Amino acid sequence: MTAPPASSNDLVGQALDLAARTGFSQSCRPEHGELLRLLARGVGPGVIGETGTGCGAGLAWLLSGADPAARLVSIERDPERCKDAAELFRAEPAVRVLHGDWRDLLADGPFDLLVLDGGGQGKGAEPPLDPAEWLRPGGLIAMDDFTPATSWPPLYEGRVDEPRRYWLDHPDLRATEVRVTPDAATVLATYLPGLRAPR
Ligand SMILES: C[S@@+](CC[C@H](N)C(=O)[O-])C[C@H]1O[C@@H](n2cnc3c(N)ncnc32)[C@H](O)[C@@H]1O
Repeated sequence: MTAPPASSNDLVGQALDLAARTGFSQSCRPEHGELLRLLARGVGPGVIGETGTGCGAGLAWLLSGADPAARLVSIERDPERCKDAAELFRAEPAVRVLHGDWRDLLADGPFDLLVLDGGGQGKGAEPPLDPAEWLRPGGLIAMDDFTPATSWPPLYEGRVDEPRRYWLDHPDLRATEVRVTPDAATVLATYLPGLRAPR
């Protein structure tokens, strides 16, 4: 795994150390982390949410860009991982790490920035979340780990990638995907509820 740049918050390094110590291999890539930092900076004093804390790498990147008055809340299903990550952010009053299922995070919404990394994307068997329930108007959803699309509709393993199409084609979202490395893309979607209205 590539080390984060020296200028990033030291917590990123601590989160990656924790991941290495505990054998957790799903921390976000530094390239995606840099994007998270930028997106968090754009929120100002708002509310940032994350599903799937993991060992806290993405959360640390978010914190490194967040306004001092922003509030960050992340939820993790695995109790041990959650405890370890919460310990990492113990001295950060703006950050809460919750133990539970991603759906429980809704109680802390609506969000100005919502990072879906452990539920809500619709990648598995469960349906994706409804942006109207989770986001403030103008709020942004970010999801990493897509194979960059080269066609429309986007394909994954030879089939139409329905979860990605849900986000890119949603009538209440303006969405796109950006490559953070040549082989990995992040989907970004802004919730604009007036989009459906006749002009
Ligand atoms: C890709 S990892 C998260 C990486 C982390 N966000 C980062 O940036 O380093 C996904 C995490 O989501 C957690 N997870 C999976 N299903 C979940 C659920 N239903 N609710 C909450 N967390 C879940 C997993 O235990 C795992 O720690």
